[in-house]
Amino acid sequence: MNDSIPQLATHDEPALDAAFHTLAEEVRTEAAALTTPEAQESFRLQWLGRKGGRLKLISEAWLKSAPGDARKLLGVRFNQLKGQIEKALESATQQQLANRLHKNAMASMEGILRELIAENGIDITLPGAVRAPGIPHPLIETMHAVARVFEHLGYSVNLGPQVETDFFNFEALNFPPNHPARDTQDTLLIAHQGAKPSRDRLLMRTHTSPVQIRTMVEHAPPIRIVIPGKVHRNDAADATHSPIFHQVEGLAVDSNITFSDLKGTLDHAMKALFGHDVKTRFFPSFFPFTEPSADVQISCIFCGGRGCRKCKHSGWIELLGCGMVDPAVFAAVTAERTRLGLDPTPYDPARISGFAFGMGVERIAMILHGVSDIGHFYSGDMRFLQQFA
Ligand code: DAH
Repeated sequence: MNDSIPQLATHDEPALDAAFHTLAEEVRTEAAALTTPEAQESFRLQWLGRKGGRLKLISEAWLKSAPGDARKLLGVRFNQLKGQIEKALESATQQQLANRLHKNAMASMEGILRELIAENGIDITLPGAVRAPGIPHPLIETMHAVARVFEHLGYSVNLGPQVETDFFNFEALNFPPNHPARDTQDTLLIAHQGAKPSRDRLLMRTHTSPVQIRTMVEHAPPIRIVIPGKVHRNDAADATHSPIFHQVEGLAVDSNITFSDLKGTLDHAMKALFGHDVKTRFFPSFFPFTEPSADVQISCIFCGGRGCRKCKHSGWIELLGCGMVDPAVFAAVTAERTRLGLDPTPYDPARISGFAFGMGVERIAMILHGVSDIGHFYSGDMRFLQQFA
């Protein structure tokens, strides 16, 4: 603390402002150290003491020599300085109170913790066990993402059983018994089915297409459904194949459905999934249940179509199968509806038409996430799965 009385050179306003600025700075610096009641009291006496307080001494000294018109200017500034000192004292009181309350609270918390530990042997100050919140598996997430694209177009979701009959999985989809087309989807048969007629024999479904038949047998058109689900094949596992995998199927049946509707729908879906720059192209193909049938390719999302290792330098990636529903499928649906006593007329190919498509979820997920081995999806390796959290 500086007890000396500063000199005032002149009484003009800039000189007064400078002098009071210095005093205010002194007050501010000292006020920052008022952490005890003792420090606070000595600060109060030093500045505001009736006898010998700095404020009093300085004001007497400066007022004595001041010309009449400077007195008022001095008075205003002394009052401001006094206000600043009083405020500093008040906030020091509050700060000290707050500090005391905090200290008491901490002390009693510590006491409670000690009691808890002593009574229960529980130390709640130890860090807890971290539980990572779960996330959808990347395959489930991809399957939902595909379904969502079609839901936004007004499609409903339908599901079917994984243990399916020969009729729904093959026969109604125009794979006659013993037809070589069945070789493309070798399956796993449920044991001891030999006594049943072949159409009722159970097998693990090889694709989601049987749910097309189940839906049409149950509902008259118009139909717009998307069918996500698990399928099974007697395939050896390698980097791109797994005996259990997932598909998303689609079916639209109505009056006047054309191949253009199919192209427009799938072009939109591929852009929604892979980005708006993606192009699609349709190649003639064969599926027993669609005529005409097509394979759909998208422009390579890795190289933008210029050609790279991922697209085998073709610029294109083959992604799904599709086509116009074969009239033989409508005929099988009509026969089944007749057998069940349902109205057989709604699936007359002269009045309605439809398109269908089916795609592999693993393949889409691998492309979207740059995964090169399908096995990672089934390994349960947390280092792989955590990347999708
Ligand atoms: N079910 C076919 C498969 O698993 C995929 C498929 C192709 C589904 C064309 C369709 C379609 O609905 O129209 O290989």
